[in-house]
Amino acid sequence: MKILLVGSGGREHALALGLKEDKTCTELHVAPGNPGIASIATLHAVSINDNQAICELAKKLAVDLVVVGPEVPLVNGVADVLRQEGFAVFGPSKAAAQLEGSKDFAKGVMRDAGVPTARSFTCTEKSEIEKALDTFGAPYVVKDDGLAAGKGVVVTEDRQIALAHALACNRVVIEEYLKGPEISLFGISDGRNILPMQPAQDFKRAFDNDEGPNTGGMGAYSPLPWAPEDIVEETYEIVLAPMIAEMAARGTPFVGLLYAGLALTDDGIRVIEFNVRFGDPETQVLIPRLMTPLATLLYKAATDSLDDAVLQWRDDSAVTVVLAAQGYPESPKTGNSISKVPTLESTQIFHAGTTRSGNGIVSAGGRVLTVTGIGSDLTEARDRAYRAISQIELDGSFYRSDIALNASVAEKGN
Ligand code: AMP
Ligand code: GLY
Repeated sequence: MKILLVGSGGREHALALGLKEDKTCTELHVAPGNPGIASIATLHAVSINDNQAICELAKKLAVDLVVVGPEVPLVNGVADVLRQEGFAVFGPSKAAAQLEGSKDFAKGVMRDAGVPTARSFTCTEKSEIEKALDTFGAPYVVKDDGLAAGKGVVVTEDRQIALAHALACNRVVIEEYLKGPEISLFGISDGRNILPMQPAQDFKRAFDNDEGPNTGGMGAYSPLPWAPEDIVEETYEIVLAPMIAEMAARGTPFVGLLYAGLALTDDGIRVIEFNVRFGDPETQVLIPRLMTPLATLLYKAATDSLDDAVLQWRDDSAVTVVLAAQGYPESPKTGNSISKVPTLESTQIFHAGTTRSGNGIVSAGGRVLTVTGIGSDLTEARDRAYRAISQIELDGSFYRSDIALNASVAEKGN
């Protein structure tokens, strides 16, 4: 099977590795990819924003499957353009991608499907906004309705800041604050069936102890030894399966990866958000743990044939730590050379924001590399990830030192 993967981040590097390891994948092409992915796939300099160019590339290569990594092309409808040309696509249609493209749309589907989430108001006028803020009180949760590249959500005790963010959005969702640990749980769907993956936890704040600004994610780990034993089953029953059924009933079936961001509150599971693609950096811990051949799995999802599919997982634990550029997330410094990328046992280094310059590799984005350690438990996986990341040299770069720390201590205590 010939596969075209769209995207260029750490998530795509991990997906590329998973696809490549499946023996049914005979050719792997990535558009546009990055220097890390170049070592395992053929790269094509095509923009993820250009639906026609992606479609032309798929035709030229005569691929059997297109896997779309990031949300922007999905919300732009690249899957529809490809399906019209007869391609099997892992990734939702433009209509189904609205689950990530519009917070208000996602709330409406959850309401119709009976899926538990924070109570909310969607507002456009200042008077409605103020009323909504005062209904829920602090901490205020204010979400830009549309895609905002990770900058759309403000959670604050400060009503002025909440109001200012709300007024800066065209349409805004204001919702009640959910208290409890957050987890990410993904499902792979063919539009009728959805296979839940194992949960992961992401660290969204830039600095240790969850301080500093929100980021795209500074690290992740899986499995979650502290999570309730039935978390996967319960999320399937009350979140994933009802969402897939509702999307199908609306005539806009969801084919691809449904990412549920969940809060485990005292009152039970609540959905914080949906994304319509693999999470980054959660994918960098999930794919190394997944034993089920990935290309075959995603092909089955893309061709409405997941009925008998099952997911198998390694017993291992995985921890990934993001190496971020100086100034990330506000104004990451790019163009610095990256040296001494080590090759260590049970460690995988995924490229995210990197590019080639002369003979070397330089930083080209905020999240530069993601370093995954695999081990028999979280402590061993952490040690491996941190041993590797501490050897990488990139001027001004930083990483969190507490990824999976509490979970590994709790696991040892059990
Ligand atoms: P999102 O982009 O929707 O994932 O939101 C970014 C982050 O804001 C989430 O990971 C949460 O930490 C936080 N957040 C979003 N919605 C809520 C909520 N209703 N209650 C508490 N925290 C929230
Ligand atoms: N890890 C958060 C995201 O992928 O949106």
